Amino acid sequence: MSGTPTPAQVRHRVPKQLEIAASAAEIAVEAGALIRGYFERGVETEYKGDVDLVTEADRASEKLITERLTAAFPEHGIYGEEGVRQRIGSEYRWYVDPLDGTTNFAHGFPVFCVSLGLEQRPEGLAVGQEGTLIAGVIYDPTRDELFVAEKGEGAWLNGHRIHVSATKYLAEALLATGFPSRKRHVSPNIHFYQELTLRSHGVRRAGSAALDLAYVASGRMDVFWEFYLNPWDTAAGALLVLEAGGTITRFDGAPFRVDSSEVLATNGLLHEELVTLFADMFAGRGLHPIPTPAEFAAARAGRSS
Ligand code: IPD
Ligand code: CA
Ligand code: CA
Repeated sequence: MSGTPTPAQVRHRVPKQLEIAASAAEIAVEAGALIRGYFERGVETEYKGDVDLVTEADRASEKLITERLTAAFPEHGIYGEEGVRQRIGSEYRWYVDPLDGTTNFAHGFPVFCVSLGLEQRPEGLAVGQEGTLIAGVIYDPTRDELFVAEKGEGAWLNGHRIHVSATKYLAEALLATGFPSRKRHVSPNIHFYQELTLRSHGVRRAGSAALDLAYVASGRMDVFWEFYLNPWDTAAGALLVLEAGGTITRFDGAPFRVDSSEVLATNGLLHEELVTLFADMFAGRGLHPIPTPAEFAAARAGRSS
């Protein structure tokens, strides 16, 4: 693992014009160092739900981020995964995932990050109405990778401009998805996983939706989709994808909203093909059936006899 950059080094990695992202980047890096310390020492795991894990690191990180954001942006609201709800009626709202990838973290699998996304919600916007994502920061403390974006200012990784991939065909694409910690049993995603695996170079399930989105933005992955996400998982990553030249919508191609739980992000070139495929799949068209283990065993026995 690499070391933690100093505040001056963090500033150096964020272009000067991205002032909000620069402050948020310092906070994300500090929180990243905090969770990395817990990771190295080891933490107790608790359950929020059946298989939904939480640790002291998640809570300590959210507390630190809340204190730092409040000091840096006293007027801004904060909406955090671990329960912080502060100044929710304000014009600006931070969506905070203090540790995205908790299951990985709890098992010692080094794929997790801190994600901070800022939405502007002009005065008079009704509760269900959508604002505009204006800044996003994702920090991966195990690789010391800092992804930042501001609306209209591009997306950046450790000071270098990033762009989505140029992959044109699903058959040549690398994809990412995830499975929720809650509601697992009602997710049809295994069918999408199977179908997209058969039609592409493969599907990765690394366990951090925010990093999956950052990887689409930086061209490491061509597509990411998931059912049942929350605003703190997607706010920063969605802006990164858009600012890197990609496309993000719901599965039917309808505009992405920060409260969209179904998310499809691509390099743009693949978007239409994916939306068409998802529509076909939801309609039951063109699926390759998955053999049950019993069917597979019977076929195997037939082959070997
Ligand atoms: C989870 C991760 C995972 C995704 C889950 C999320 P958490 O967030 O992003 O990749 O598949 O849907 O809940 O709980 O580790 O912050
Ligand atoms: Ca998350
Ligand atoms: Ca989390």
